[in-house]
Amino acid sequence: MGTYNVTPATALDYRRLAEKRLPRFLFDYIDGGAGEEISMAANEKDFLRFSLKQRVMCDVGDIDTSTKLHGQAVSMPLALAPVGLAGMMGRRGEVQGARAAEAAGIPFTTSTVGICPVEEVQAAVRQPVWFQLYMLRDRGLVKALLERAQAAGCETLVFTVDLAVVGMRHRDTRNGMMGGGLAGSLAKAWQIATRPRWIIDVGIKGKPHDFGNLREVVEDSRDLDAFKAYIDTQFDPTVTWKDIAWLRTLWKGQILIKGVMSADDASAAADVGADGVIVSNHGGRQLEGVASSISKLPEVVAAVGERVEVHMDGGVRSGTDVVKAVAMGARSVMIGRPWVWAMAARGERGLVDLLEVFRQDTAIAMALMGVTRVSEISRDLIEM
Ligand SMILES: Cc1cc2nc3c(=O)[nH]c(=O)nc-3n(C[C@H](O)[C@H](O)[C@H](O)COP(=O)(O)O)c2cc1C
Repeated sequence: MGTYNVTPATALDYRRLAEKRLPRFLFDYIDGGAGEEISMAANEKDFLRFSLKQRVMCDVGDIDTSTKLHGQAVSMPLALAPVGLAGMMGRRGEVQGARAAEAAGIPFTTSTVGICPVEEVQAAVRQPVWFQLYMLRDRGLVKALLERAQAAGCETLVFTVDLAVVGMRHRDTRNGMMGGGLAGSLAKAWQIATRPRWIIDVGIKGKPHDFGNLREVVEDSRDLDAFKAYIDTQFDPTVTWKDIAWLRTLWKGQILIKGVMSADDASAAADVGADGVIVSNHGGRQLEGVASSISKLPEVVAAVGERVEVHMDGGVRSGTDVVKAVAMGARSVMIGRPWVWAMAARGERGLVDLLEVFRQDTAIAMALMGVTRVSEISRDLIEM
């Protein structure tokens, strides 16, 4: 797995390329998870716990991978997940991600803590970008961000609820990802010095390197450490479902609650007026020891599948993973690391190519399972 002679094909091929392209601390920031990374590994491994059912002689001459997500026509049941700091992995990375997603006919989600401000990302594409938000202590700032995103043209809010506090990510500590004193600065400078292509593409041509959505509220906008310190004080651990009811009054479009891992929480999200939930353990970056996302999907679908659209993310690495999640009841899946690996390695072009691999892989799996429409991918096509 993960080797090629001519063209990178899979997400893991791009991962290998990204590792060569990025300074170590940035690669580890994407690649790592919380604690000993057991929940992160489970996300991928648990897709192997069940199989797809092969069916033959079904007339699969006309395969269509398209579907609708919250009323939006998409080319396949896939969306790009919000990833903070994507603009440190490739030049204006959020813009490249949004453009590639539009070219592939799928939604792009831009993060609260993206490098590019939401206005820059939305201006780069015609289709509405999905806007991800965390609850911040400064509710005036939350309201202002919602107004900015709506004024820019965003219609779908992805509200992330699994970050009451930030998970323990040991790789970032070891690398001095943010801070780390003099030793950290020297180590990072050395890692950067060994990646000249990144220096030119991102370090020089990719400026400014600040959190574009939060520029106005942090004094030294170029100092990422100052930003991190500010944001750490801003994530709000007191947030509850009542705050979602407040958000509901401010956001006119769809609201998706991201980070739901149980039937009870999914029901609570539906009760406060969410239009969708995303079953997610944040790519194994938050609660170490929590179950994999795919293993919790059936429980959430059973609880709220009739009331809201259920999506999932975590460990999706191929079109067959997409098909497995859809068969288990997901309306769509999101990918986080894979899109950033492809964008870091080969830019927008690489990401477009990877997304086409996902689409073809999905179409081929459907054909070999004897179905021609996404709506026909049902639970009886899964074998435990
Ligand atoms: C480097 C990195 C940064 C992330 N930043 C955010 C973020 O800003 N907001 C958010 O809601 N989720 C964030 N996530 C979680 C992703 O949206 C998504 O849930 C996760 O990556 C899915 O798992 P996968 O990487 O295995 O596909 C981040 C994930 C990674 C890997």
